[in-house]
Amino acid sequence: MNSTKVSSRTVVTLIIVGILLIAGGFLIAQFTPLIFPVEASAEARQIDQLFSISLLIGGVVFLLVQGMLAYSVWRFRARAGDMTDGANIHGNTTLEIVWTAIPAVIVIVLTVLSYSVWTSIQSVKPDEQTVEVQAARFNWAFTYSTTDPRDTGSTLTFRSNELHTYIGRPMRLEMHTQDVIHAFWVPAMRIKQDVLPGRVTEYRFTPVEAAGETYPARYPIKCAELCGAEHGNMVAWVVVHQTEDDYTAWFDQEVDKVLNPPADPVLRGEAILASQVYPCHTCHVLSTDALQWAGAVGPALNGIGDRAAGPRSTATGLSAEDYLYQSIHEPNAYLAPGFGALMPQLDVPECELRSVVAYLCTLTESGTPACTVELPPECGIGAPVEATPEATAPAADATAEATTEAGTEATAPAEVTAEATVEATESP
Ligand code: CUA
Repeated sequence: MNSTKVSSRTVVTLIIVGILLIAGGFLIAQFTPLIFPVEASAEARQIDQLFSISLLIGGVVFLLVQGMLAYSVWRFRARAGDMTDGANIHGNTTLEIVWTAIPAVIVIVLTVLSYSVWTSIQSVKPDEQTVEVQAARFNWAFTYSTTDPRDTGSTLTFRSNELHTYIGRPMRLEMHTQDVIHAFWVPAMRIKQDVLPGRVTEYRFTPVEAAGETYPARYPIKCAELCGAEHGNMVAWVVVHQTEDDYTAWFDQEVDKVLNPPADPVLRGEAILASQVYPCHTCHVLSTDALQWAGAVGPALNGIGDRAAGPRSTATGLSAEDYLYQSIHEPNAYLAPGFGALMPQLDVPECELRSVVAYLCTLTESGTPACTVELPPECGIGAPVEATPEATAPAADATAEATTEAGTEATAPAEVTAEATVEATESP
């Protein structure tokens, strides 16, 4: 008789506690996402929905465990003067089955939901645009390819230090690293993917219109894998345009820059460095009217023209121009005193590399350039632009050959470069 009365009271208590737990879990799931960045991609919405379900379940479990802990501390506390031992409890088979079965069901449900979101995110989207990502300590660069307007048979590529796209356009990123492991993470897109040496990894997202956003919207890209001294500063931006027309306006402007570079190699070199498509600014120190770099890893570049013509030329037997060329093309061939083999092989196209050398030669105390660079005719205004080796990966050999024929040094295919960099890094 007495036991029946107790159990009906227990049932009512359990129902009330259950409702309170679910309500608490619901509040946790509802309010935690308020601290998240905006949902800027279709994938972000899927992932946030999945996360809300996990938060609801996690919230209920959290409140249940903490609630029972708090209740037990209060209910079974030692009373004043009570020096007896606690009850000797050996176990409860029913309880153990319940607390094993419920989590097992939860894990299976979450696995099915996660797998469905994962396959949806990874799936190939119709009409997706592929952009290449180059990661190098401590910079992100993005290579776009298009048909060369001067010669519709060939491909024109350009690099940008920002990733531009527009609402509704599915993106597929093909990611390479030129040195160590990095991780490409855009919090607003909710996706994070490692970028691994010797491999190509992919990253897919489709930008969506975010509530209350002004366009073009800018979302930070972060490196999420400790990669060295400036890891925390390895940041770039995704720029989402509102319409395809806005995006095309940006794209055409970038193509125009490639087709009509400054005629003066010095100005061209300076523009390349200022565009930050190569990671130079993240490691070197340079202070000019146009450029303010505060890297902490590589040698300072102020006065580099004087050193290239002086002590570096003596040490290497190269002219100032050749020394600067080698320092970028084969960074580990000669290391400036006091610096380690940290600079990656960057595969800078020949015309760009010569232009950067032309600019570096002007960094002298007297202002008189340490060298004068003559760009070959194929680097001229409106001339065909070299494709980067990665951009034409299946035809990498053809690209290398074509570059050799143009009378300049071959740019190594990406794989060879990766191996060379690894070797150079490993050698004592
Ligand atoms: Cu790249 Cu951390």
